[in-house]
Amino acid sequence: MTPLKAGIAGLGTVGAGTVRLLAENAALIAARAGRPISVTAVSARDKSRDRGIALAGITWHEDALSLATDPNVDVVVELIGGTSGPAKALVEAAIAAGRPVVTANKALLAVHGAAIAAAAETAGLPLGFEAAVAGGIPVIKVLREGLAANRVSRVAGILNGTCNYILTTMREEGRDFPEVLADAQALGYAEADPAFDIDGVDAAHKLTILAALAFGQNVDFSSVHIEGIRHISALDISFAEELGYRIKLLGIAQQTPAGVSMRVHPAMVPVSKLLAAVEGVFNAVLMEGDFSGPVFCQGRGAGAGPTASAVVADLIDIARGSKIPVWGAAQSALAPSRPVAIAALTGAYYLRLMVTDQPGVLADVTAILREHGISLESMLQHGRKPGEAVPIVLVTHDTVEAAISAAIARIAKLDCVQEPPALIRIEPK
Ligand SMILES: NC(=O)c1ccc[n+]([C@@H]2O[C@H](COP(=O)([O-])OP(=O)(O)OC[C@H]3O[C@@H](n4cnc5c(N)ncnc54)[C@H](OP(=O)(O)O)[C@@H]3O)[C@@H](O)[C@H]2O)c1
Repeated sequence: MTPLKAGIAGLGTVGAGTVRLLAENAALIAARAGRPISVTAVSARDKSRDRGIALAGITWHEDALSLATDPNVDVVVELIGGTSGPAKALVEAAIAAGRPVVTANKALLAVHGAAIAAAAETAGLPLGFEAAVAGGIPVIKVLREGLAANRVSRVAGILNGTCNYILTTMREEGRDFPEVLADAQALGYAEADPAFDIDGVDAAHKLTILAALAFGQNVDFSSVHIEGIRHISALDISFAEELGYRIKLLGIAQQTPAGVSMRVHPAMVPVSKLLAAVEGVFNAVLMEGDFSGPVFCQGRGAGAGPTASAVVADLIDIARGSKIPVWGAAQSALAPSRPVAIAALTGAYYLRLMVTDQPGVLADVTAILREHGISLESMLQHGRKPGEAVPIVLVTHDTVEAAISAAIARIAKLDCVQEPPALIRIEPK
């Protein structure tokens, strides 16, 4: 059997994991792919670095770009990362040279996925990116193939393991965000520069890709509303628990009459829901198909093993000759994205205020809410400290985000309100 010859650019966590998996499970992979898959060429920055993998007999390329035209490479595997620079250049060069591509690069696909997919389609080449979303969870296959016959109404996921680990630890240990982030960095669960993860950008890249597949629309990263978890406090997590919720960073893409709403933000998830039980570094995605009903997938969203598992699944598909359109349908069948502004969102809200404990405070706050047409489902206040700041928690009935935003802007200016109000969207029960 003629082997499929892979050229791998990037030998970090995912690249080294991929080389190891292809070697360790070689016989099983060959049986399932119908032919062996061998690594014939690699590239990384530092040739001398010990990566704990056997590279004897494999051609080393100083310039990753030359993998695209190496005659001994059938498929280019891009595991460098980044939206520009060598990763983008390599993917474009590989397609131009007629080589299929496998990549784990969600940032590249979220930002440049439309042009890259169009180039692959024109060249008649497959482009695999199972590893780009939720690591070891085969969610691309589930949405693009398993649910291909369905109209999907909603996709909601815990798409960033670092954030989920931090929120889980804050709840379990009753500690605040900065401390838990520092511990996560020391343990290697958070990057030295954690902004991409904790500010929601990484989850938004993944959501952009899921939304394109779920709703047959062009990737449109710039339309995703993005909020991270820096402002989540141990106090809000503990109030959430008392009210029967867990706070999770969710990526949500939802079909509405006005278009597709795409947003990443912390949300209060009822404890009875499957997503509430996804803890630590785990990821999960809940998809709603009109004929399938709800489909829930959970697993490890990052790390060498899970991500390599997804990369090699794509290589096996390519070895078999599978050619599924990148976004599940031909480029010409994709609709332009019709984004819905966050201000149009309807739902319930958790609002925590730190107010001076004095008569009339609640009346002032509820008067403003009433003027914006917002009614309350419940209220929590613990203890009394006359003259000092105390938390008051208000849970609204369904309202429009524009109304609650306008009300909060006024409430924040009341003399009795001591800190910027905390607002968290509540997932339906
Ligand atoms: N880590 C995960 O769990 C995970 C999960 C899902 C998706 N991903 C995605 O997978 C990709 C790789 O992530 P990673 O965590 O494996 O990154 P990483 O550990 O930082 O590895 C990056 C690799 O790229 C190499 N590299 C950098 N610049 C290069 C250049 N100009 N030419 C050739 N090689 C170059 C580096 O070489 P040196 O080793 O010599 O420095 C390194 O081997 C990213 O797109 C990431 O978003 C990662």
